[in-house]
Amino acid sequence: MSFAFAQNNKAKELVSKMTLEEKANLVVGMGMNIPGLTQNNTGPVIGQTMDKVPGAAGTTYAISRLGLPNTVVADGPAGLRIEPFRNKDSSKSYYATAWPVATLLASTWDTKLVKQVGNAMGNEVKEYGVDVILGPGLNIHRNPLGGRNFEYYSEDPVVTGKMTAAIVNGIQSNGVGTSIKHFAGNEQETNRNTVNTLVSERTFREIYLKGFEIGVKESNPWTVMSSYNYINGKYASESYDLLTTILRKEWGFKGIVMTDWFGGKDPVGQMKAGNDLLMPGTPQQTKAIIDAVKDGKLDVKVLDENAERMVKYIFRSQAYKNYKFSNAPDLKAHAAIARTAAAEGMVLLKNEHAALPFSKNLKTIATFGNTSYDIISGGTGSGDVNEAYTISLVQGLTNAGYTLDNEVKKSYDAYLDDYKIKHPKKGFFQEFMNPTPPATEFIIDNNLLSKKAGESDIALITIGRNAGEGKDRKVENDFNLSEVEKTLIKNVADAFHSKNKKVVVVLNIGGVIETASWRDNADAIVLAWQPGLEAGNAIADILSGKVNPSGKLATTFPGKYDDVPSAKSFPGIEFPEKATAGMFGMKQIPGEVTYDEGIYVGYRYYNSFNVKPAYEFGYGMSYTDFKFSNLTLNSKSLDKTITATVTITNTGKVAGKEVAQLYITAPSAKLDKPSMELKAFGKTNLLQPGQSQQLTFTISAEDLASFDTDATSWIADAGTYTVKVGSSSASIKQTASFSLAKEVVTQKCIKALAPEVPVIELKRAF
Ligand code: BGC
Repeated sequence: MSFAFAQNNKAKELVSKMTLEEKANLVVGMGMNIPGLTQNNTGPVIGQTMDKVPGAAGTTYAISRLGLPNTVVADGPAGLRIEPFRNKDSSKSYYATAWPVATLLASTWDTKLVKQVGNAMGNEVKEYGVDVILGPGLNIHRNPLGGRNFEYYSEDPVVTGKMTAAIVNGIQSNGVGTSIKHFAGNEQETNRNTVNTLVSERTFREIYLKGFEIGVKESNPWTVMSSYNYINGKYASESYDLLTTILRKEWGFKGIVMTDWFGGKDPVGQMKAGNDLLMPGTPQQTKAIIDAVKDGKLDVKVLDENAERMVKYIFRSQAYKNYKFSNAPDLKAHAAIARTAAAEGMVLLKNEHAALPFSKNLKTIATFGNTSYDIISGGTGSGDVNEAYTISLVQGLTNAGYTLDNEVKKSYDAYLDDYKIKHPKKGFFQEFMNPTPPATEFIIDNNLLSKKAGESDIALITIGRNAGEGKDRKVENDFNLSEVEKTLIKNVADAFHSKNKKVVVVLNIGGVIETASWRDNADAIVLAWQPGLEAGNAIADILSGKVNPSGKLATTFPGKYDDVPSAKSFPGIEFPEKATAGMFGMKQIPGEVTYDEGIYVGYRYYNSFNVKPAYEFGYGMSYTDFKFSNLTLNSKSLDKTITATVTITNTGKVAGKEVAQLYITAPSAKLDKPSMELKAFGKTNLLQPGQSQQLTFTISAEDLASFDTDATSWIADAGTYTVKVGSSSASIKQTASFSLAKEVVTQKCIKALAPEVPVIELKRAF
């Protein structure tokens, strides 16, 4: 008898011994400690606590008489989110590593490294007694204003899926679980609990579900978190099509599905859909489930299946194994990995007049911009981590041996200290509801600036952005730089350029901003993203040249907001006249968003419609140069797979790494197709000057297939396919082609999630 079979039997047997109340308790979490909202389900079981790990987002119910313990789930994608102190005892801390945000990790294009990050992150989960971390987040960067984009990887589903698989495999190698989220169609925060995402079947499957599909198939996450929104009229957490037909029947998902916190409306509908766990859980939900079984509205067989899956999940947990966690992970070793990962994902956007790396003779740096002093390690909300420290940029530069102009530093310190006294940070929920705005950029007096330009060797300006759960960003003073920020850049550039000194801009941002209007003022631009707790050290590694930048954009920087294909449809329309009272005293306004750009998200749009972005998908510079050569396919026609190899040579003067991106242009056929789509990617090792490496990619018919809605099937068309390998989506270095003799139906699917009224989508005009 196989292990899985034995576990199934054991789970069935345990569920058969449970009372109806026990089953209902098992599928509803134990609540959450929010003042005024606390719902503790504590039932007849002695010793149950929802505070097993303080600061965790939720706990599942224990049934001790059957040997089932409580399990603990905690946020979130950028590291383990728990309370750093317990019971006001300051002698022992429970800090976790704030890792670089997901968008930065994707920009490494290095799945081995991301797996290593996952491995270390998972170790903290295990050693702090948590069973599941609520991440990674893998919604798509549909629009730069998405408030949680920093928690997500990319605008591209293949990058998203591969990064997900890497991090999940890393985390779960520790014997703890992940929850890939938010499944699905949750690309905005505006009206997130009420918004109805209207999307075509093809677009949903090809763009928004694909990353989840790759993640499920390549890494078997223990859990999936259903999202808050409706999809084509049905709540994600109540959608049988989504959670059972697609996720389980088509993709073979074996774990549990949990709701997002307080997500959905109908506990019985959620059970029927295959949403096994309602989080954080309320007594009303438990009661509704019990009543529904008693009234015959919920077949107990359905509840039994949900409960069996819960039991199997508990069997896997460290809580069940009674693991004696240490509460002492090796944070120092993890910080070193965080620093490496951070530097690997930073993207050099511009570098003129050899502004970077800093010359060996460089001594004094004049450092401008509030976030040089007060760097942002990661975004806000549940994706925030309680880390022990964050290395600011000024600290990182000092650690690297540079001297910072003290007069400039002192002016900033005084300005920011004063701001903090006047705007003290509030508690988590108060900040969530009403975030303290960041200090306006400090404008330094022009006379002082001119003096500093004479005295220092170079100017560094950091521009910062923060965002997070609950709110989307806006165009003015967020996507676009504020007038004060533009003035700061201009004034510093004028002063320093007039003295023949260079200006470097560092972007400490979690999401895309406008760059085209001000970039001429900068000699170099380093996109540092939100790099986690070792932020300043990692940025200094790039600026000094200790690390040669090798990050590439996994999301496009458009020329202007209006160029974004979803600019007009994001974040949709709302119906204030239908508003109802929601949680935390908030109004719930029904909303609707139509994904009318269809499959033309990100570079699929910019390339196909010839709209030139500021920095294209896949773009990123290095301090050295690379040559791509010898693109070779192992066959002229695809049978099962095609293998492509390409040679990459470092032709410059310093060691570096290059990312090779493999795009495919499909033959024109019945369906509209983007001009090219990413199908595979790889990164070289550190290549010394003159050194070469061959990278190999494998392409199968599945990779070529598009979703044909009429046939409800994934189909790879017959014809000639062009393989394009390059260093970015606009810099193709080598091409080759192969043919597919006959159309291949790679998968016949079940009709699911069809919109009630067809979604009118953007199409290419031929
Ligand atoms: C977020 C989730 C998070 C959960 C638990 C929700 O508000 O959307 O991403 O995991 O809270 O904190």
